[in-house]
Amino acid sequence: MRAAYRRVESCRVCGSQRLAPVLSLGDTPLANAFVRPEDVARAEARYALEVLRCLACGLVQLSIVVRPDILFREYRYASSASPPLIAHFDELADELVSRFVPTGALVVEVGSNDGVLLRPLAERAARVLGVEPASNLAAIANAAGLETWNEFFDERVAARIVERRGRAAVVVANNVLAHIDDLRGVLRALDVLLDEDGVFVAEFPYLADLLAHVEYDTIYHEHLSYFHLAPLRVLFGAAGFEMFDVRRLAVHGGSLRVFVARGGRRALSSDLTGLLASEDAEALASEAAYARFASRVDASRDALRALLAALRREGKRVAGYGATAKGNTLLNYCGIGTELVQFIADTTPFKQGLLTPGTHIPVRPDDALTSERPDFALLLAWNYADAIIRRHADYLAAGGRFIHPIPLARVL
Ligand code: TYD
Ligand code: ZN
Repeated sequence: MRAAYRRVESCRVCGSQRLAPVLSLGDTPLANAFVRPEDVARAEARYALEVLRCLACGLVQLSIVVRPDILFREYRYASSASPPLIAHFDELADELVSRFVPTGALVVEVGSNDGVLLRPLAERAARVLGVEPASNLAAIANAAGLETWNEFFDERVAARIVERRGRAAVVVANNVLAHIDDLRGVLRALDVLLDEDGVFVAEFPYLADLLAHVEYDTIYHEHLSYFHLAPLRVLFGAAGFEMFDVRRLAVHGGSLRVFVARGGRRALSSDLTGLLASEDAEALASEAAYARFASRVDASRDALRALLAALRREGKRVAGYGATAKGNTLLNYCGIGTELVQFIADTTPFKQGLLTPGTHIPVRPDDALTSERPDFALLLAWNYADAIIRRHADYLAAGGRFIHPIPLARVL
């Protein structure tokens, strides 16, 4: 039998073996491995959830890489299921087409999910092609007329795209770099696919926001890397590319959108040079910053546990809202089971009726919040807090209250 994971011995950006521990969240089940009630007595596979930092280039990364076929066996999440994301992708399509895509030019999206970005791009007269390893998602996009190859993006696939479609004016990768172990391989594929003057655009959660807002729950086995600009500059530079612009975004607790071209082609924006400088100043590079983060994570857990324990003593009923992957990191790390959170409401049909991995809290349909009317609902999908609160005005009107779990638990 092949091993279920590999231990990271060297940095996936720079190859250094100087990897220092930052934080350990214990041994946890995979964050999307929801459990069927009939399997509840079976042992669940657990894997170390441990974060390291490369002392050479600064890349923050997990200590192990779980085999992709195990990690993604159960479930791949369909982006179009989240209305707030649809608006986000419309805005991205506008920016790409207005800045970088002449009419009819090719845009390739890596990790194109169910076509949530391909669609607005196609509507704006770009020629689009998706590359998506999850077959269920690729099938949804193809059925909607958004051509999507069911492949992992690599040099071989890039060469085949060039052969059949020519090179791309824009290659986009949205929330995929963190999932990719072989980043240098992806850059070789990008080199094959991208036009001489083409632009690569990537979005990913920003490490500075993760640290500042104690978003430790976004750490789980699917997320191999936690990026900031400094190590990315090393990664792109080694492959002959250069970041020339960046934008901070509010999505997913704070993200970056970076713009990359072949080296020396474009002037560097002041947003880029400014943010790079602020990373030094904010000490994303100091051991002290990470030690402080680790102690804030402990404090966050203690505050949440104390709040939930107090509510239980008062006889209050508490549910969760959003059966998210990040919620499963949080529940497992904080040791929260059905004694503190009775059920979790979620809109995703196939999660309903299942139990959360490790903590075995039942997932119920969204309307359980109204029908059961727990006194409090712990926001496990805090990245969509605004949309969720707006949609559940009836729950609030009936006296229900949301709890925001990070950085320190508070009742909204
Ligand atoms: P997501 O942001 O994908 O988080 P993670 O990557 O941590 O899993 O979580 C979306 C989940 O939240 C998904 O299970 C659907 C659920 N959800 C609701 O139940 N109601 C809502 O209004 C929204 C926006 C999401
Ligand atoms: Zn490194």
